[in-house]
Amino acid sequence: MKTDLLNTIGMSRQEIESLLDAALRFKSGDDQSKPLAGKSVALVFFNPSLRTRASMQVGIYELGGNAVVLEPGGTSWTLEHRAGTVMDSDKTEHVAEFVRVLERYCTAIGVRTFAALKDWQEERTDPVLNAFARYASAPIINLESAMHHPCQSLADMLTIREKIGAGRKRVVLTWAWHPKALPMAVPNSFALAAAQMGHDLVIAHPPGYDLDEELIENFGDRVEITNDIDAALEGAEVIYAKSWGSKQFYGNTDQDIAGRAQYRSKWIVDEEKMSRTNNAIFMHCLPVRRNVIVTAGVIDSPASVVIDEAENRLHVQKAILARQ
Ligand code: CP
Repeated sequence: MKTDLLNTIGMSRQEIESLLDAALRFKSGDDQSKPLAGKSVALVFFNPSLRTRASMQVGIYELGGNAVVLEPGGTSWTLEHRAGTVMDSDKTEHVAEFVRVLERYCTAIGVRTFAALKDWQEERTDPVLNAFARYASAPIINLESAMHHPCQSLADMLTIREKIGAGRKRVVLTWAWHPKALPMAVPNSFALAAAQMGHDLVIAHPPGYDLDEELIENFGDRVEITNDIDAALEGAEVIYAKSWGSKQFYGNTDQDIAGRAQYRSKWIVDEEKMSRTNNAIFMHCLPVRRNVIVTAGVIDSPASVVIDEAENRLHVQKAILARQ
């Protein structure tokens, strides 16, 4: 059985904890093993990246391996993922051949493929990522897809554990205003992992910005969903800010952007909001727009753990790669 990491759905708390334990052994230097010695891992980026790309390349190197970075439509051919398509348009190569060639060279394949925010019903199925998983015999690692970013959420869980200790915490995921409609992968995966870790999860967003209903069913009964950001802050030990687009406006993001203008001043994490928490840490996956999602005063304060959070991507991904 190949061990894809497409998302964390179905992972037990114990499985997540043991991945975090392995990540901490890499971080402390107790584990200096080189399980990728003599092996290569392909990293396929349909979209830009700083953290994911750099931390995966460094992690593969530190595990003794070699990273092969490909950008379909840039440094490699444009890719079709749909089955049964007559490829007489702009796509040059099909995922079916792409992955089966790559796995002759590489022991695992990482894929980044964002939502295009055009068709909610299609994109919520993670079609590109799942095409990779369907055609590949090698393990597929999700480096952020339309719906999930498990490498980020596992690093987030490690960061919470390091900063405020193990055990149940009051964790608030708050929507934030942003001038563009953004995909839901990070909030989906963060909320899912926080619920799986047994945290008391509060998701605060304006009306119409609900996450996927089927995914929410995986959050269990300790999740609270509210449109009241002020109430959500009470007792919060973690504030995780992220903007995302409304699924009702996939295909019409201009309407989303116009409708959300009313939320600009209210849905930002500022010093006043942080002062009403229980000394919460501030988290964000980065990149972040300063003084839009979060004030400079908050992101530059001791409460902000965003740089350590980004570092933890490296350690968690080494643990993921080492289990392949
Ligand atoms: N958080 C994250 O995935 O960052 P990048 O988009 O820079 O990889």
